[in-house]
Amino acid sequence: MSEFQRHAEGNRQQVAGDVGDLCVMRIGHGNPLQWERFGVNHILTWQSRKPHAFDLIGCKAGRAAITSVRQAKEVGGGFHFVSRTAPPALPDSLHYVLHKFLRFVLENPGFRCKLFGSIQTGSTMTAVEQAAAYHEHTKHYLDRFADYLGHFDWDNRPDPFRNYDEAPRILLPIVAESATATYNDLYATEPTRQYPITLETIACLFELGLGLAAWKKWGEHIGAVRCDPSSGNLHPTEGYLIAADTSGITAGVHHYHSHDHCLETRCTFTDADAAAVASALPADSVLVGMTSIYWRESWKYGVRAFRYCQLDMGHVIGSLRYAAAVLGWHCRMISFESARLVGWLGLDREGFVTGEEEHVEGFMVVTPNPVWRTNDLAPHVSGISDTLSAATGKGEWHGQPRQLSPEHHPWPPIDEVAAASTLDTVESPDDPGKDTLPPPATPPTTIGATKIIRQRRSSIDLNGETRLSADAFYVIMDRSLHRTNVAPFDSLCWAPTCDFIMFVHRVDDLTSGLYFLHRSTVALEDLQAAMKPSFTWEKPANAPTHIGFYHLASGDYREQSQIVSCRQEIAGDGAFSLGILADFRASLESFGANAYRRMHWEAGLIGQLLYLEAEAAGIRGTGMGCFFDEPVHEIFGLSSGAYQSIYHFTMGGPCEDDRILDRAPYDHLKGRAYASIDPNAA
Ligand SMILES: Cc1cc2nc3c(=O)[nH]c(=O)nc-3n(C[C@H](O)[C@H](O)[C@H](O)COP(=O)(O)O)c2cc1C
Repeated sequence: MSEFQRHAEGNRQQVAGDVGDLCVMRIGHGNPLQWERFGVNHILTWQSRKPHAFDLIGCKAGRAAITSVRQAKEVGGGFHFVSRTAPPALPDSLHYVLHKFLRFVLENPGFRCKLFGSIQTGSTMTAVEQAAAYHEHTKHYLDRFADYLGHFDWDNRPDPFRNYDEAPRILLPIVAESATATYNDLYATEPTRQYPITLETIACLFELGLGLAAWKKWGEHIGAVRCDPSSGNLHPTEGYLIAADTSGITAGVHHYHSHDHCLETRCTFTDADAAAVASALPADSVLVGMTSIYWRESWKYGVRAFRYCQLDMGHVIGSLRYAAAVLGWHCRMISFESARLVGWLGLDREGFVTGEEEHVEGFMVVTPNPVWRTNDLAPHVSGISDTLSAATGKGEWHGQPRQLSPEHHPWPPIDEVAAASTLDTVESPDDPGKDTLPPPATPPTTIGATKIIRQRRSSIDLNGETRLSADAFYVIMDRSLHRTNVAPFDSLCWAPTCDFIMFVHRVDDLTSGLYFLHRSTVALEDLQAAMKPSFTWEKPANAPTHIGFYHLASGDYREQSQIVSCRQEIAGDGAFSLGILADFRASLESFGANAYRRMHWEAGLIGQLLYLEAEAAGIRGTGMGCFFDEPVHEIFGLSSGAYQSIYHFTMGGPCEDDRILDRAPYDHLKGRAYASIDPNAA
């Protein structure tokens, strides 16, 4: 018995003596098995799930279990943990839970508490540890989901559209149909045609990036779906434009309103500031800012919602990147201090209701100017920052954010991980790296880009029959590779961190089973060492040589893939499904806590590519944020925690979705002008 264990055992007796026959044992929703994984081995009682994360549960020996804080208070209480290992060896997740627990105890002096050894609490956790602890805390397990409200609070359903009441509006023309780019053009290493920045082309950027794509009816409800998908169709991401010298667009900061397809002007710059911003920005460019309203997702998904917001953000990066490619434009993430961004977008101004705050995520430079595809943007950062801070500081602000829900339910772990993972925690300069890949595959199709972008949908049912040809499959794998000079991955300012762990069910010339697509910069040997030793790591004979695609194990994984994807049938009924495996620990350690968001953005961006690729291949995809984290890892033998599957995707033959209405996306904007992005069009 170690000294720590002896100490713990001694204290156990003492606690029991102190509090008579009462021991209060449980925090949160961990089941005994998981507590054991965390090193806690004395669980004297176990209760069923409760609606809130940190309810304390008591048990009086020989009596009925005590299941509420109130009851525990009535009998007086003590709390008792015995850890098998000394506290410094406990994982972050337990520190996190204990930190919550300690805070509760301090705020409730009626409780007495005995803890053994010193426990590192959240206040002393590093930002990276907090991000990792949040991830651990929000895992779904086969027998329980991460905490959520447990019912739909329909009265408080957040408005999926942000309105800035009384802000001046710039009505955008409807233009996407006039775009002639083919879907293949989007992957060109050099754009075939580049359009100038005009009111019409900015309208196209937003219409195909964040605009409405269709309307659907389910039950009594009618709602819009957009070019970008969103977990639960809740759309936490908002888009902003900063333009300084675009004819028809007031120099200033604008919010894109996707339902009304207009720009709501938040801030108007003075003429002098507009000129200063225009000269600080890279030539021929605008900035697009992206924010998240976490409440929109946490309303439904509870504590795991921060992950979904970050995945949605990745989809938005992708959606905007593809829309920019339709115009022959480039799009790259650029890092600024987050406090400044908040000010530029006016997110710290009055009017935002507590509980539904809008949080800045990131910015992109959007430009037709080919120079900025590769030229280093870093030298511009301080000039842009200073002039924009001055311009927004002196500018005239307009509009009041309209309240989204009457009431809100707080999810403190989301606030904490958000605060821990801001852009300011990035510990290394932007560096997208280099690749040596050949140009992407160009399958023989002339299908239009607008058509594919607009027809993208999530399939709620797959037919369990449709097979994908090997050629079509390898086009998808090829385009999933991270090329630093090709859309959509050229929008990222970091090297790839994600690989695919795959369940192949119905692909011609491929044995069903487990596969791996290597697309990150992680050494293949490291990944191999982290996975089951029995895996074959054989390259299928028909795989193109430049694609790091490997067979791992043969077998029928339809049922297992479905089970670990929250039992969603679509995971087993498609041609294949996959988990996006992030180089989790190393990314956090080398890039700082913001890497937690970046990994999810990258995964969401991959998801956007997969959605469009599924459409181009004549099938349909669905992103799956719901999966059982550890059971997925177990199938692949991933036990160290270094790599984490952070997003899942499936694609296959769709069943007909009769919810989609035969109605143009902007049919409701009666009288809105239709125009062309081509300045020479009649
Ligand atoms: C991050 C993310 C996670 C999602 N998770 C699931 C899921 O687990 N299961 C599912 O059926 N659909 C999932 N979806 C699909 C959304 O429900 C869908 O995008 C939304 O309802 C809008 O429909 P649309 O994609 O057809 O526009 C997810 C989408 C995203 C972007």
